[in-house]
Amino acid sequence: MKSIFIANSKGGCGSTSLSYLMSAYYNLDCITNTPPMMDFRSQTVFSSSASRIPKNLLKSENAIYDLRGSDVQLQSLLNDLASVVSHFIIPTATDAVSLSHTVNLANHAQALGLPVSIVINNYRTEKNLSTAHISLRDLLPQTSIFSLRYTTLFGRLTYDGRAWLEKVHHSKGEGRLLNTLDQIHEMFDQILNFTEASQDAK
Ligand SMILES: Nc1ncnc2c1ncn2[C@@H]1O[C@H](COP(=O)(O)OP(=O)(O)OP(=O)(O)O)[C@@H](O)[C@H]1O
Ligand SMILES: [Mg+2]
Repeated sequence: MKSIFIANSKGGCGSTSLSYLMSAYYNLDCITNTPPMMDFRSQTVFSSSASRIPKNLLKSENAIYDLRGSDVQLQSLLNDLASVVSHFIIPTATDAVSLSHTVNLANHAQALGLPVSIVINNYRTEKNLSTAHISLRDLLPQTSIFSLRYTTLFGRLTYDGRAWLEKVHHSKGEGRLLNTLDQIHEMFDQILNFTEASQDAK
């Protein structure tokens, strides 16, 4: 499977949570510049101040890059990753600051020819979702936009981690969280289908 980059220069939008679930779902190794709080199946950490990806960590297969940094730092890291990853995923909150960071990064990635998907994440009302969706649609017509509502699944993953994730499919009484997990997996598959479609169109 081709590698994926996930980040937003506005922190706290859900990069690590989504990387964690993607890594578990597709068996991807996490490459990050911030030691993650979550128990990834495999993780390699490089310096949080680096504005280049170490050459030995440029992997075009089976890696998920969960990187943190300012706009300038992430744009520089994107330059390195553009020829390596198949897709750039930007999780965003619905506030104006997060959306503005999202638009900057998406424009930079698209100028490099990289397919971009945005996940409007952790929203709580349909109104917030719809306002964010409309402003992103106007500013980034080439981008595919997905959404993920606030879910208690993420808190559960933070505390119980991979051991729970691996057995949840067999647990009774966790149907609601399992449904959410299925919906998230479906969203990941749709994001990857979008990548393939946009590459076929080139
Ligand atoms: N859809 C969601 N529903 C509920 N909680 C969420 C959701 N997405 C993220 N969170 C929570 O928001 C917090 C920040 O998420 P996360 O650490 O994944 O973001 P990040 O972008 O990696 O942040 P950082 O900038 O610190 O690296 C976490 O506590 C996470 O559990
Ligand atoms: Mg993070």
